Amino acid sequence: MKARVFSGVQPSGNLHIGNYLGALKNWVKMQHNYESIFCIVDLHAITVYQPPDELRSKIKEIAALFLAAGIDPKHSSVMVQSAVPGHTELAWMLTCVTPVGWLERMTQYKAKAAAQETVGDGLLQYPVLMASDILLYQANIVPVGDDQAQHLELTRDIAQRFNSLYGETFVMPETKLPAVGARIMGLDEPEKKMSKSAPGSGHAVALLDPPDVVRKKIMRATTDSNPAVDFSTMGPGVRNLLAIFQAFTEWPDEKMRAHFTGMRYGDLKKQVAEVVIEHIEPLQKRYQEITCEPGYLEGVLREGAERVRPIAESTVELVKQRMGLYTRS
Ligand code: TRP
Repeated sequence: MKARVFSGVQPSGNLHIGNYLGALKNWVKMQHNYESIFCIVDLHAITVYQPPDELRSKIKEIAALFLAAGIDPKHSSVMVQSAVPGHTELAWMLTCVTPVGWLERMTQYKAKAAAQETVGDGLLQYPVLMASDILLYQANIVPVGDDQAQHLELTRDIAQRFNSLYGETFVMPETKLPAVGARIMGLDEPEKKMSKSAPGSGHAVALLDPPDVVRKKIMRATTDSNPAVDFSTMGPGVRNLLAIFQAFTEWPDEKMRAHFTGMRYGDLKKQVAEVVIEHIEPLQKRYQEITCEPGYLEGVLREGAERVRPIAESTVELVKQRMGLYTRS
């Protein structure tokens, strides 16, 4: 049997080249070797207020971008979290075996809570719901960025605790971090990972940015005080521009060095911008086609949810049995 892969993306902010190079591109490569489930986690998004109409259209936008990036809905299940009730059902049962102290220690919780006036309970529960997403499908592999590693660790802790209280129930998921080099940093702040939610129009290149916007953003990217590319003394901004170029082209290191050593930053940026545009244009064209075909996306999401629902239902049933809750049979 093929190992099962599960990953999720929140329908908030704009998917950018960092999401593509760090996650989507790997998912597309992985999908034929695994049984994959790619989930749009709308229930996670509402842990901070989302205007309903925006959320509704973001869910569709993310789904269409998954497909445009090359996720094949014949092989992979593309689904929306709130379409399968098992996510929230299991989350409650997991909540009951999770010490509050574990949740209060989460660095993402601390950062998000510090930015809110009143902290919703959902923000604290966020990682339990994420654990539920993964354990619901007994996923073996969870491809996420290193910012999610702590949540993955917590997922394993919760699974272990449940298994030791109620008997072997959950598969222990492993983290699958992307290959080195796929960690793309903010254009304006090359010390920080490129973020979907960071303010500032110069931070990220969105996958749906038109070519002139891509050029403008990359030409404004932070570099350093060297006049030209020097691989031994370059700062994080130049390293990031080179990383973007290399991640798209998959050029080997020697070719990168030979081509870019001594190149002035203006020329470097022009070349990076053209490579980015060349690679996102076909994706944007597919995005247009997908969103213009009436009913297509809705059908993909309906089928995705239908395909995974039986797995979710059988896990919930098993967990109910283990805990002594009421079951149909
Ligand atoms: N917390 C993840 C993020 O913000 C999204 C997510 C929710 C997820 N559930 C998941 C990722 C399950 C992997 C598996 O990136």
